[in-house]
Amino acid sequence: MNVRAPPADPEGLRAAATGHVLSCTGLTKSFGRRRAVDLVGLHVDAGQIYGLLGPNGAGKTTTIKMVCGLLDPDEGTVAVAGRDIRDLAVRALIGYVPQEVALYPDLTARENLAFLGRLYRLRGRVLGERVDEVLEVTGLSDRARERVEAFSGGMRRRLNIAAGLLHHPRLLVLDEPTVGVDPQSRHAILERVRSLGAGGMAVLYTTHYMEEADRVCDRVGILDHGRLIAEGTKRELVARLGEKDRIDLVASGDMEALAAACRSVPDVATAAAVDGRVNVVAGDGRRVLPALLEAAERSGAAVHSVEVVEADLESVFLHLTGTALRE
Ligand SMILES: Nc1ncnc2c1ncn2[C@@H]1O[C@H](COP(=O)(O)OP(=O)(O)OP(=O)(O)O)[C@@H](O)[C@H]1O
Ligand SMILES: [Mg+2]
Repeated sequence: MNVRAPPADPEGLRAAATGHVLSCTGLTKSFGRRRAVDLVGLHVDAGQIYGLLGPNGAGKTTTIKMVCGLLDPDEGTVAVAGRDIRDLAVRALIGYVPQEVALYPDLTARENLAFLGRLYRLRGRVLGERVDEVLEVTGLSDRARERVEAFSGGMRRRLNIAAGLLHHPRLLVLDEPTVGVDPQSRHAILERVRSLGAGGMAVLYTTHYMEEADRVCDRVGILDHGRLIAEGTKRELVARLGEKDRIDLVASGDMEALAAACRSVPDVATAAAVDGRVNVVAGDGRRVLPALLEAAERSGAAVHSVEVVEADLESVFLHLTGTALRE
């Protein structure tokens, strides 16, 4: 009988058989005495959009850089398609779209992409086709011959994404791709990301915009002070709140004092001040409302309006950390 030799890389194949395009375990990184990332583990499958949600300094970019092999972790592992990230060949499977736009302003969009494509060893007709394709995907075909210095911020961001797609990566990693982008461009970027996920790409996406994570991500990991404090689908995360409501008080005056007063009301799980509001998570919104308004009056703050909102990822973050996401 003709028996085939076992594959040369059984470990890698076993990991690949789990279906995870990206698999990280125990990622840890310190800068001096500050632990920027602390034991982060996550998986992203083909066709899945995973959102890493966290405030400024939470450790999103540091995590992403380790995922892409641009920063060595102190501890932990990263595997893409079952192969260790330290294997340089694996990096060709990743499309990395950095937080800072990385383009040459005095070259046109097409020239930028052609240059970057050559770095991915694309040549000739294939290179030309790929450049056309990613311009199309990011809605920039009609601006291809213009210099990037004449592009708006949103167009630059889209071109940055185009550059990350040139080599048909299996894993697309986007670090806050919509910061500083107008609502229309933001919408366009989010739609592209969704359709890439629907097309089978694995996407790891960082943001500090709760509503973006809500809208585009299949799974969300909440990162705070370097630690992944919760992870799951939006529905799973919101279910962790139990039977709780969120009440937003739009107010003026001493917002910290107002938040403290709200926290003293029985049945209030947590309250935090953000952008002229105090967001409250409480057991039964309607029932605690009168007590909240009395507490507000005692604190001296003026409450202008009250909204009882459906529990969302912002509420989950508030509940888990006691702080608002956008402080
Ligand atoms: N090269 C570095 N040297 C020293 N400290 C660093 C370095 N890079 C990051 N840090 C620190 O690590 C922590 C996490 O930073 P990181 O850039 O990963 O956060 P982030 O979640 O991406 O934040 P943002 O939303 O502002 O982009 C911060 O406290 C930051 O100051
Ligand atoms: Mg960052």
